[in-house]
Amino acid sequence: MITEIKQIDEKSLLAAKEIIRLGGVVAMPTETVYGLGGDACNDDAVKRIFEIKGRPSDNPLIAHVHTGYDLSRLIDYDPPMAAKLRAAFLPGPLTIVYPSTGKVSPYVSCGLNTLAVRVPSHTGAQAFLRAVDIPIVAPSANISKHVSPTSAQHVYDDFNGKIPLILDGGSCRGGIESTVVDVTGEYPVILRPGLITREMIASVCGECGVYAPDLKPGDKAKSPGMLYKHYSPRCKTQLFKDDGLQTALQAVLAALQSGERVGVLCENAVVNEVRKGAANCTVFDLGATPEQMAANLFSALRQAEERVDVLVAIEPREKGGVMVGVLNRLRKACLSTDVAH
Ligand code: TXA
Ligand code: MG
Repeated sequence: MITEIKQIDEKSLLAAKEIIRLGGVVAMPTETVYGLGGDACNDDAVKRIFEIKGRPSDNPLIAHVHTGYDLSRLIDYDPPMAAKLRAAFLPGPLTIVYPSTGKVSPYVSCGLNTLAVRVPSHTGAQAFLRAVDIPIVAPSANISKHVSPTSAQHVYDDFNGKIPLILDGGSCRGGIESTVVDVTGEYPVILRPGLITREMIASVCGECGVYAPDLKPGDKAKSPGMLYKHYSPRCKTQLFKDDGLQTALQAVLAALQSGERVGVLCENAVVNEVRKGAANCTVFDLGATPEQMAANLFSALRQAEERVDVLVAIEPREKGGVMVGVLNRLRKACLSTDVAH
């Protein structure tokens, strides 16, 4: 199969619509990361998405709709807190998990009695969702466990030959996936941190929990995606805490000495010190603000796997707000080795 990358216009949207109608898969941009989209009501399309991603069959998908879509067609009950969240944050990088059974293909929610619904703000995503006018399931458009894609080229790198069309909407501004929030209980609970923070949700709903299970193998997770190693570049990784810069530099020098190509991933504030301490490594500068670090993280991880054998990552000092999501991704990306320090 030939994979085409097309700018989003009337012609490419018509082509995308036809692919979706026939049960095929189209990659689309969103403000967070690119998604691999298919008809949420078509069993074969949904199964195909799991298959080409290599996604574990117990990890449910998010249904994406345009801003004018009638939500009652997708969910069983609309809790008052959800209306508040929609008014405050949608369209945007927030996915809401509602009580829902039997409205879309049973493969979407993997047997859970809930459905995750997202209304992206990206104009290209909205144009596509309006053109098809059906709910589109779209996991991040990366091979399972690999780094999420923030450009059409990233999608191409993972799925060339496996999907017919990538709608190109430029680089994703958000850079990390949407916040996933469950509204099926008494108050909202974050299942996956993202750009809409716990504080932002609490300011709208009064309170907001965070699902942080102490899971043992075999336990059933509320958001099954939380269980897996994820976002991993195809190079060796080592992660150091923000106060472990000197130890990180020793690790860099040791790897350089053994002849490996070494990269350092760090926030802008420590770039100079890293360059002074280890001149021969490649520095991947995440930027200075939490928003910049979110936007740059995945493309930095993808550049690293192309250019180095070992990536030494140093955690940024800021831990709150948007950084909760950034650190969640960074730590999972580096799970192959223990957090040193
Ligand atoms: O920003 C995003 O959300 C991107 C773009 C493409 O929209 N999509 C995305 O999808 O990140 P994916 O499939 O890579 O991640 C979906 C996450 C997983 O952690 C999954 O377990 C969780 O949402 N999820 C989906 N449906 C759920 C449900 N019914 N209950 C709990 N968690 C759910
Ligand atoms: Mg994903």
